[in-house]
Amino acid sequence: MKLFIDDLNLEKVRELWDLYPVDGVTSNPTILARTGGNPLEVLKEVRAFIGPDKILMTQVISEKAEDMLAEAKVITDAVGREHTYVKVPATPQGIKAVKLMKKEGYQVCATAVYTVGQGLLAAQAGADLVAPYISRIDNLGGDGLQVAKDIQDILNIYQLPTGISSASFKTTRQVVELAKYGIEAAAISVGVWESFLKNEVVDMAVSKFNSDFRALTGDGKTFLNL
Ligand code: G3P
Repeated sequence: MKLFIDDLNLEKVRELWDLYPVDGVTSNPTILARTGGNPLEVLKEVRAFIGPDKILMTQVISEKAEDMLAEAKVITDAVGREHTYVKVPATPQGIKAVKLMKKEGYQVCATAVYTVGQGLLAAQAGADLVAPYISRIDNLGGDGLQVAKDIQDILNIYQLPTGISSASFKTTRQVVELAKYGIEAAAISVGVWESFLKNEVVDMAVSKFNSDFRALTGDGKTFLNL
């Protein structure tokens, strides 16, 4: 499963990038607003940090398909076309924009996917990725994990080349459930990234191992200074 940091805060991105197996950085207009500054400059800084071979995603703002297409050019001119996915909301104009963008060779992620039907249309329009919003669907009384799984089933049945880049996670369990189902990617918030390895039982086990070793070898000892 590809794992993305769903945030543009460079300090946080650097911290997680250093520790964990990260495949890219994803964003949306709300994340850009939270980050502050000129959106294109922020995206350029993140691209410079992650390098040209990692995935970067950001979302268009325009309401008309043709304007979304024009935004895709501006965005990819700024941060490069390789490994950049232009996120397009799966609305009627967005689905049209997916078709236009695919004709021009952009990599596209259809986002704001709350229903299986949106996923189906986006995939058939040629989206490379579709992004179901797991927790937001749950908060509407739906079943976010099931929506992602149903879309995956349809992709499999018709052997469509689209993948799922799932988003809007509140727990690590949600991510793991989708990993078990073979979902291609997950865009994970900083808090959920941090929750993966926050575990007092593991900390206690490691602490006991180390204190046993030091009971044998002395305080401050490791294999580096025996
Ligand atoms: O871009 C989609 C994702 O970031 C939404 O997450 O937490 O705002 O529901 P959230």
